Amino acid sequence: MIVLKKAKNYEEMSKMAYSIVKDVVTNNPNATLGLATGSTPIGLYKEMIKDYQAGVVSYKNMLSINLDEYVGLPVEHPESYRSFMNTNLFNHIDIDKANTNVPNGLADDIEKACKDYSAFIASHPIDVQILGIGGNGHIAFNEPGTPLDAPTHLVELKEKTRLDNARFFDGDINKVPTHAVTMGLKDIMSAKKIVLLASGSNKAQAVFDMLNGPISTDCPASVLQSHPDVTVICDEGASSLL
Ligand code: PGA
Repeated sequence: MIVLKKAKNYEEMSKMAYSIVKDVVTNNPNATLGLATGSTPIGLYKEMIKDYQAGVVSYKNMLSINLDEYVGLPVEHPESYRSFMNTNLFNHIDIDKANTNVPNGLADDIEKACKDYSAFIASHPIDVQILGIGGNGHIAFNEPGTPLDAPTHLVELKEKTRLDNARFFDGDINKVPTHAVTMGLKDIMSAKKIVLLASGSNKAQAVFDMLNGPISTDCPASVLQSHPDVTVICDEGASSLL
């Protein structure tokens, strides 16, 4: 079931998301967090850091599992998702980096790395999974056409996704990696609780299709309709078609 919450703006969206995350992390010092990259969750991560610095919560005994990673980008590249997580969250809280997991986009045997990642998720159930949504309805890098029951897998990124992300690569689509490793929809759907954030009118159609469309591989996020505990938090732009 999807509960929709409308926020006035990005800041309010981030605070509403944090109130759900806060409930999980203050009640379970051993929580497993499913984390996402992108512009959307940065405000949520700022709220998490603020409360950590205020001594409200400790991440010392928590585990994190990230959704995805580019293939072929060195880990130390500023746009690798490992770098993103270090910069925007892990460097500022007391989580043990050894307990932070991001898919390995540099594995010699990507297929095996994917299998191992799905197995790891199955043995470490995610208490709360944070998601953004792509303008084409993707969640993580599950692009339109991805089977709704896929485990972690290698994907070729759609041109729209690479164009959307070119802003992080000097505006040059040719610098955006062509492939990524992503948690599959099956892994995502196994999370106990899901919080999806959407900001900006470029997400409005995808949000509409996720909530009102049929469950279809055309809009991978629509699969969330069949999850028991999803909260979608949209700012004004993202909810403009609702
Ligand atoms: P964004 O990306 O947060 O940078 O908009 C979201 C996504 O593509 O899943």
